[in-house]
Amino acid sequence: MTRPTPRPGILDISPYVPGKAKAGAGKVHKLSSNESALGPAPSAIKAAEKAAGKLHLYPDGSATALREKLGQVYDLNPDHLVCGNGSDELLSLSVRCFTEPGDEVLMTKHGFSYYPLCAMAEGCTPVQAEEDDLVADVDALLAAVTEKTKVLFLANPNNPTGTLLPNEEIGRLRENLREDILLVLDGAYAEYLLDTDYDPGTGFVREAIATGADNVVMTRTFSKIYGLGGMRVGWAYAPPSVIDVFNRVRSPFNVTAPGLVAGEAALDDQDFVERNRRHNFSEMARLVQALRGHGLTVRETMANFILVELPDTAEAQHFLQHQENHGVLVRGLSSSNLPNFVRVSIGSREANDAFLAASESFSR
Ligand SMILES: Cc1ncc(COP(=O)(O)O)c(C=O)c1O
Repeated sequence: MTRPTPRPGILDISPYVPGKAKAGAGKVHKLSSNESALGPAPSAIKAAEKAAGKLHLYPDGSATALREKLGQVYDLNPDHLVCGNGSDELLSLSVRCFTEPGDEVLMTKHGFSYYPLCAMAEGCTPVQAEEDDLVADVDALLAAVTEKTKVLFLANPNNPTGTLLPNEEIGRLRENLREDILLVLDGAYAEYLLDTDYDPGTGFVREAIATGADNVVMTRTFSKIYGLGGMRVGWAYAPPSVIDVFNRVRSPFNVTAPGLVAGEAALDDQDFVERNRRHNFSEMARLVQALRGHGLTVRETMANFILVELPDTAEAQHFLQHQENHGVLVRGLSSSNLPNFVRVSIGSREANDAFLAASESFSR
């Protein structure tokens, strides 16, 4: 019998494992998906509510108003922006548009766990370069390049390690990377950082545009500090030729109408962003200090989560289960080659207190 057959490799994909969303009965604190600790900006809620009365209308497929606002807030030319159904869509488009089956997609060993899936969905091989103590290693990345490499994904700060690669290192990567390889700089957590030396990729894309290079993209999201994970809104800044390619392949109405207006309202509320950022780092410091006081090994990060390092995989599983039994959902990291680590998103004060209380009874 013949039947429709998925492209070779698709049935080898294990679907993306999202952070756990539900435990047993009772109140649950979800600290498993790096969502905004302060929820959405109130103005974004209002904008989405207002859009609800016009749900019968298709959205503006080219996201003109949102791109213009992004252009104002981030000082970018709106013509060099494209919006996506979350930045996930733009990551997957990067592979879909710039590879052929059999090509290689390069990433770091503990990179974002969606990257290998993007590669495999297009019949490409994900190649994971070693890291240096949970930091991307430019030499290892360059050494892993082969003639089949077509796309390189690098999140900065990275999820789930939360580490940052300095600008000079990214510059060195750019200089030494073959020109036909698309470098995708994923800045999902960029807004958490205020360090003026940090560049999530804007400078590299701007320089590429100025020099006529077509080989770098920066992706960003409204899902983290802007608190709109449920809306699915992301964007990319890239040279015009790349934007043109993405626009040909993306689905025509990829960002919903409520998502577009919620994104605009969130951009207008930079006070909310600042509050979220301050809350994040003060709560991170509080959590890290308390956890260390309980004898746990903890890593701070440059994003909105921390890592708890357990002695082995079994202990990590035990920690996850213990938290879940106390109504706190955190994230195991087996899918990122870190089976003895647990990632804990910084949540509201109440959620963080619940996590701390459970951690205290775990370490006793
Ligand atoms: C590094 C990184 N990139 C991209 C994403 C995807 O974000 P979204 O599709 O919600 O924009 C995430 C979400 O967790 C992430 O951690």
